[in-house]
Amino acid sequence: MSKIIVRGGNKLHGEVKISSAKNAVLPIMAACILSSDKCIIDDVPLLEDVFVISNILKSIGAEINIDKNSNKIVIDSSNIRDSMPDSELVKKMRASFLIMGPMISRFGHFKLSLPGGCNIGTRPIDLHLKGFNALRANIDVGHGYVEASVDKLIGNNIYLDFPSVGATENIMMAAVMAEGETIIENAAEEPEIADLGKFLNNMGASIIGAGSDTIRIIGVKELKGTTHNPINDRIECGTFMVAAAITRSKFKINRVNLEYLKPIIAKLTEAGVYIKPHGNSVIVDGNRDLKPIDVKTMPYPGFPTDMQSQITGLLATVTGTSIVTETIFENRFMHAAEMKRMGANIKIDGRSAVIEGVPRLTGAEVRATDLRAGAALILCGLAAEGETEISDIYHVDRGYVSIENKFKALGADIARVVN
Ligand code: UD1
Repeated sequence: MSKIIVRGGNKLHGEVKISSAKNAVLPIMAACILSSDKCIIDDVPLLEDVFVISNILKSIGAEINIDKNSNKIVIDSSNIRDSMPDSELVKKMRASFLIMGPMISRFGHFKLSLPGGCNIGTRPIDLHLKGFNALRANIDVGHGYVEASVDKLIGNNIYLDFPSVGATENIMMAAVMAEGETIIENAAEEPEIADLGKFLNNMGASIIGAGSDTIRIIGVKELKGTTHNPINDRIECGTFMVAAAITRSKFKINRVNLEYLKPIIAKLTEAGVYIKPHGNSVIVDGNRDLKPIDVKTMPYPGFPTDMQSQITGLLATVTGTSIVTETIFENRFMHAAEMKRMGANIKIDGRSAVIEGVPRLTGAEVRATDLRAGAALILCGLAAEGETEISDIYHVDRGYVSIENKFKALGADIARVVN
């Protein structure tokens, strides 16, 4: 099990380059099931979740070649069978559910173990299943498995009760080869969905409006292989922006898309962080007098829940009272207890965290309770006095490419210990 040890207090400086978005790559890899041609994905972040989905696809017959030098993945789905993916792998990661849409589309059937993932709430898949059902699939859930079958998927109008990212992606992937037209209303609008739409359209799909709240999909007969370069990771970028703020440092972040970062930039700017766009880069200056703010997580284009732990960590170091409200996941404040071990003053009141900023966090032994919580604890460690030891770092490895090396290159005193 790996740990990360951070000795806090160093100012960060220099430049860091953002990787491609894990949350774009995972659905795109699942979408490769839809064609029996080869698909190529360039510039893939070589993360634990990417290896998990790759092994899930292999467990149903895909041939996958990952070139670790060029970060290129070639997926050959010609021999994929209508079989059950390895349940141990499926339970490891919630995003495994993303193969449901492509499987029902290609084979008219899937059966898989109910997926696992981060411990941040119950995370049901009812909206995904309702969507498949609206396309005429029969669904059976029981004994820890979910199974769906259909003779022919038929397009329909689907209004999502909540703009779920995964349900939107799954329904899009199920509907691409359905008969007729499917319209998804109250769809999630995340940039990763637009990227999936672009990938599917390059495969020959007919999708209009992916990335908006209404998506129109006209079923096509078949899809072909394609090559894709995924969008960059707005959450990784946001994490580095908060790193500049929490360490009161100034550095440059390269390979960013400012459009996707608007909700994060708006809140950091309100807190007093100076953010200067520079082409595809951004200079973030956190060495300022920062102010407390209130933040509420919302579906895109609102403030992302995947940045909630990191901003909570930052606000724990900002004098005054801030309130952070989590509206997406019901159990996403487990990092608060760990931050309190570092001297943070945070009280949880239902879905809100009331944060009284303290002048200094202090190093402690803490545990990454989920992916983004782990990243937030690293940020707190960078700002804290003394040494912070973050255990269960495998959560962080699911979503950040060599996080310690990127921080080390910025001048942080950080190391990984494998025991
Ligand atoms: C995706 C992201 C994750 C991010 C989340 C919200 C990927 C691989 N993961 O997860 O990093 O935190 O979006 O931005 O892209 N819900 C239901 N029923 C459903 C589906 C969802 O009630 O059928 C609820 C969930 O429990 C949760 C909320 O909807 O409370 C949002 O979930 P959703 O948008 O589906 O998130 P994911 O796709 O799992």
